Amino acid sequence: MSGPLLALLLAYLLGSIPFGVLLTRLTGAGDLRRIGSGNIGATNVLRTGRKGLAAATLILDMLKGTAAVILAERLVPGTAQLAAAGALVGHLYPVWLKFAGGKGVATLFGLILAFSILGDLHWAAPAAYAAAWIGLLLLTRYSSLAGISAAMLSPLVAAILGRFDLALLFLGLALLVLWKHRGNVDRLIAGTEPRVGARSNG
Ligand code: G3P
Repeated sequence: MSGPLLALLLAYLLGSIPFGVLLTRLTGAGDLRRIGSGNIGATNVLRTGRKGLAAATLILDMLKGTAAVILAERLVPGTAQLAAAGALVGHLYPVWLKFAGGKGVATLFGLILAFSILGDLHWAAPAAYAAAWIGLLLLTRYSSLAGISAAMLSPLVAAILGRFDLALLFLGLALLVLWKHRGNVDRLIAGTEPRVGARSNG
């Protein structure tokens, strides 16, 4: 197997680990895909009422993206961008869940963070992502709106930082994140999207 293909496969496999599903099942919190929105991410884990579990899901979904990019780049130099795409696709379309995966907000943040850790991207990029994500979440309490906005901001920030190659990559990845949120977008427009902390689920 060629080096880049190996890096891509490794990144996909890391990205495809469904931490939300695993953690909720292992702790007896139920089948996440039958709870709330059915999504496998931290927002939906929060709907089980287990804040610690939601925080763990958020951090692990993020770190698997970071690890995938850094590991791939260390093992096969020059494959960081390929690995970033592989890891996000792994999270969004994991083979283990018949390709019905998550929405990618935490994993995309982890990927962007990895490029800064590798010294390939100014820290302003993950900082802007985190600021938009947390800021809009606090302001609106719509997790989806905050996540989509942070994701869509990432290519813009990369372009402002002069990294047009990464801007193009992030644009592609952010569009995938947007696509996975299409149900949330419909609910946001209809005014039926549940806010974080609200009782009803979408
Ligand atoms: O990161 C996921 C979030 O943006 C939306 O999750 O469960 O409300 O569809 P959910």
